[in-house]
Amino acid sequence: MNYKEYISIVENFPKEGIVFKDITPLMQNGEAYKAAIEDIAVYTRQKNADVIVGPEARGFVVGCPVAYALDLGFVPVRKQGKLPREVVKVDYGKEYGKDVLTLHKDAIKPGQKVVITDDLLATGGTIEATIDLVEQLGGVVVGLVFMIELTNLKGREKLKNYDIFTLMQY
Ligand code: PRP
Ligand code: ADE
Repeated sequence: MNYKEYISIVENFPKEGIVFKDITPLMQNGEAYKAAIEDIAVYTRQKNADVIVGPEARGFVVGCPVAYALDLGFVPVRKQGKLPREVVKVDYGKEYGKDVLTLHKDAIKPGQKVVITDDLLATGGTIEATIDLVEQLGGVVVGLVFMIELTNLKGREKLKNYDIFTLMQY
């Protein structure tokens, strides 16, 4: 399937100079969304993951249906102040801002194999922070999956030690 037909490109959102790749048209189309999740599930099954982890909010859009398809659990990584119990946390930067991400301390067991999901790889800041949280708890990151990769931002260079699968590149 040509997934790019379902991506809307919006200039100067959310800030001047950013070319935003909007996945909502893909999510709205049942056939395209299902095909994208199935492609990602095929990759994820090969990695023999124990659990899927995804950062708020668009990492959930990818990770939850993949977890469901593979009979796995899903662990949310959330922005500061959203998770109710004890957390590990990390400061990070992304293409258009800075924030803090958190993960429940009891969400990952040492040695668990983790695939991390998100909609888009830009600078790699968000995914690097998510990896940091998983590794703080002793998780082993066996794969990273994204619908979209923005190759000019060279996120892959930050993630040299990890296996990456992307459906579309710009
Ligand atoms: C977006 C996107 C990725 C991240 C990519 O999330 O969903 O998580 O930015 O950028 P990076 O590779 O430069 O880190 P955002 O923080 O905007 O959150 P949202 O999913 O809640 O919209
Ligand atoms: N997250 C970070 N950069 C982005 C972009 N250019 N489009 C959509 N989401 C993003």
